[in-house]
Amino acid sequence: MFVSDNAKVNSAGNLEFSGVDTVALAQKYGTPLYVTSLDGVKASCAEFTAALEKHYGGRGMILYASKANCNTAICKAVSSSGFGLDVVSGGELYTALKAKVNPAKICFHGNNKTDSELRFAIESGVGRIFADSMSELDDIEAIAAETGKKVKVLVRANPGVEASTHEYIMTGQVDSKFGLSIEKGDALAGVLKALASEHIELAGIDCHIGSQIFEVLPFEDEAEMLMRFLVDIRELTGVTLQELNIGGGFGVRYVPSDDPLSADMIIGAVAARVKRFCAESGFPEPFLMFEPGRAIVANNGITLYTVGCVKEIEGVRNYVSIDGGMFDNPRYALYKARYTACVANRADRPADYSAAIAGKCCESGDLIGKDITIQRPERGDVLAVFTTGAYNYSMSSNYNRNPRPAMVVIENGEDRLAIRRETYADIAAFDEE
Ligand code: LLP
Repeated sequence: MFVSDNAKVNSAGNLEFSGVDTVALAQKYGTPLYVTSLDGVKASCAEFTAALEKHYGGRGMILYASKANCNTAICKAVSSSGFGLDVVSGGELYTALKAKVNPAKICFHGNNKTDSELRFAIESGVGRIFADSMSELDDIEAIAAETGKKVKVLVRANPGVEASTHEYIMTGQVDSKFGLSIEKGDALAGVLKALASEHIELAGIDCHIGSQIFEVLPFEDEAEMLMRFLVDIRELTGVTLQELNIGGGFGVRYVPSDDPLSADMIIGAVAARVKRFCAESGFPEPFLMFEPGRAIVANNGITLYTVGCVKEIEGVRNYVSIDGGMFDNPRYALYKARYTACVANRADRPADYSAAIAGKCCESGDLIGKDITIQRPERGDVLAVFTTGAYNYSMSSNYNRNPRPAMVVIENGEDRLAIRRETYADIAAFDEE
């Protein structure tokens, strides 16, 4: 009935999420409210770990792409599940370290890391840096030399694989700001530079072809292209690189028609292709990495809002306005993303009321969706929007000087505040007096 396995209707007729009554959560913590099931996050992590074990004997590492939702509670949950962590900024790295994630299991990504971010990462002892450009390789070498460290690096190669997804979240095509193109020879130049750098230990190649992908073939093709590249490197230099990072991008269900791949299907298919390629080419099977973000958190998160104005424009459209909007979830405004929702305190009633769910920002594009079917709502009801665990909190803003919502997590069936609600004082805290 719901897009998330964590959701059901309880005996009071309310929406329950991860075993907790959402109407009670809205009363206890106020709205808007992000709710994240850490129990669900850990279950999602376990699926990836089991798949890597089953299909590849566990010879690899799953990294959580923390950009999807980065805070100390989530960092702790994924690292306690045995995952490594992918960070893309000094801020994400700081959060991971604050959550006491083992630096050796942190990997630093990003297409334009600043010198100070690189220095922070190297001084913190991150396990791997995924180098995105030639100039970054120079910077890593210089900073590592200064600090007297040898840094493990993977070069981000761009395989030229085009996955069918939104243009803004496609990353593997040649015309991209990310990585070094294999086709153009830039990736090889990067590899040669890294191999010649005294303070860089080149471990392998990494890649990421895009996000919210529902087919397995682009990942298999990507893996094979990268394996071919590893063979070319060996032929040219005699060096056998041992690590291969396939990236993330595994699609999730936002609306019932979405048909996501399971971790078992993705890892199973990629591992099979890699093993077959290695058997045929005589190249040793590499240490395999995957970097899911959305697949770990999206459906383990919901957002609760309070319904305000309900406006019915005869023969045109109904508008249900909520106390949040694009400042806590900009994904409709950015990508025309689709969502499902439910009136949490009327979850046992039929969902037969079609409406645009509108935010409170001063923009017509500030919607959660244009045609969402929910229970007939009234002012004061609690509206739950599903699948908001990924890229909602992390892309939130203070637009219109709205304070960011709090985030509650559910762990072992108990709710607790993981991120407190921002106040007006927080918003003006950096302004002059
Ligand atoms: N690895 C790299 C290098 C990435 O750039 C990304 C996402 C991931 C892993 C994780 O991808 P995931 O498994 O979460 O799809 N803001 C957009 C998504 C941007 C994704 C950016 N990179 C959205 O809201 O849909």
